[in-house]
Amino acid sequence: MIKNQWYGILDAKELKGSKPIGVTRMNEKLVLWRKADGSIGCIADKCCHRGAALHLGPVKNDEIYCPFHGFAYDVSGKVTLIPANGKAAPISDRYKVHAYKAVEQYGFIWVWTGDFKDEAPEVPFFKELREGFTYGGFGEVWDVHYTRAIENQLDVVHLPFVHTDSIGRGNRTVVNGPVVKWVDNLMTFYVDNHTDDGVSIAKKASELENYEDFFRLQLQMPNLWQNVIGDKIRIVAVFAPIDEEHTKIYVRFYQKFMMVPVLKQMVNWLSTPTNKHVFHQDRRVVNTQIPVKSEFTMGENLIPGDAPILEFRKRRALLKGEIVLKQK
Ligand code: FES
Ligand SMILES: [Fe+2]
Repeated sequence: MIKNQWYGILDAKELKGSKPIGVTRMNEKLVLWRKADGSIGCIADKCCHRGAALHLGPVKNDEIYCPFHGFAYDVSGKVTLIPANGKAAPISDRYKVHAYKAVEQYGFIWVWTGDFKDEAPEVPFFKELREGFTYGGFGEVWDVHYTRAIENQLDVVHLPFVHTDSIGRGNRTVVNGPVVKWVDNLMTFYVDNHTDDGVSIAKKASELENYEDFFRLQLQMPNLWQNVIGDKIRIVAVFAPIDEEHTKIYVRFYQKFMMVPVLKQMVNWLSTPTNKHVFHQDRRVVNTQIPVKSEFTMGENLIPGDAPILEFRKRRALLKGEIVLKQK
């Protein structure tokens, strides 16, 4: 995982009221629960006493209690009660588990991969989608590391091969560019695919003019993506890392052209089968990729059309401190 990032890890609907939920995310078993004020607890789902899963225990007064011998934990992962020692007994600091700072925003649960005590920046959700849109969607697990799942949504070369009956119709196999731009950790890439006339070759990104008029997609590091279909329609995905070989993908259709209550739900609901069809076309192939995780240096033979994938790998390596950018 990249340190000091907000990762989307759950659809907020999966956390029902104050009932705790146990999930594996970021290679770790975690328990999440909602406090009375709506804030979120997210700590290791493994009691520091003798290893029982905390998510089976009750939540009382905003703390979670181990179902085995009743240790209580606060959201910072600290044990606040060891019943067998007596309520009045002091508790050493070593009785604690790993805790994440977690928030619920924009219908997702996000965790900060820095120190629990950090002053974290705001969750980097797409600004224009924070208000005014409604959405519907689904979540599903893919058998690859989240880097592979993200790269699939940065892949502008695969469309006419994987999505022949959907978004890749028209046999537009030649990939001009694509143009990739970064603003902080937000990547925007502009797509200009054509059918092959057998004579001209693909243009370099530097040869493309008026690229801002092209179709565009965005990746917000570390695991949030959107397809900007139009001002009023977007497809958004959060790629929640489960472990080295699994990712839970949350796909949402965002729209604001239909805001009439029942009709908007219908539009959002009707979008799901189409999106599922497209994502399943991807999943069929992506689940076969070897290795299941991508790296900055991994011996693949990339082509110019893979620029957004290469940029993602580079940015990831940079944020992980694996590479350093040379000063110009
Ligand atoms: S295993 Fe949790 S209190 Fe004993
Ligand atoms: Fe695809």
